[in-house]
Amino acid sequence: MPQLTIEGVGSFEVPAGKRLVNALVDECGIDQLHACGGIARCTTCRVEFVAGEPATMRQAEQDVLAAKGLAGTPGLRLSCQIACDADMTVRATSRFAGSGRKDCGARPTDAMQP
Ligand code: FES
Repeated sequence: MPQLTIEGVGSFEVPAGKRLVNALVDECGIDQLHACGGIARCTTCRVEFVAGEPATMRQAEQDVLAAKGLAGTPGLRLSCQIACDADMTVRATSRFAGSGRKDCGARPTDAMQP
């Protein structure tokens, strides 16, 4: 099983292929925001990769990062658009605590969307 390390939090084994956004919540106990429910619209599921950033990016992630002016930001990726298929180390920078939001957002589906 891939190992997911959250800087300043710890390291966790996560099921291979699980959506990163859901692994952050389920296996790592992170209060990760995912306001749009994991459909590549909001960018609140963003994380900063320290190591193990996937080499490829889904079209939906490319499109929303470009639309929000975030394309090309080093290490910034959308956890709803990434599967845990290798060891990764990230900073969980977009969390419910202190966000002022009423909740984290609807739970993203197990299957990648859109
Ligand atoms: S872009 Fe909204 S949860 Fe990922």
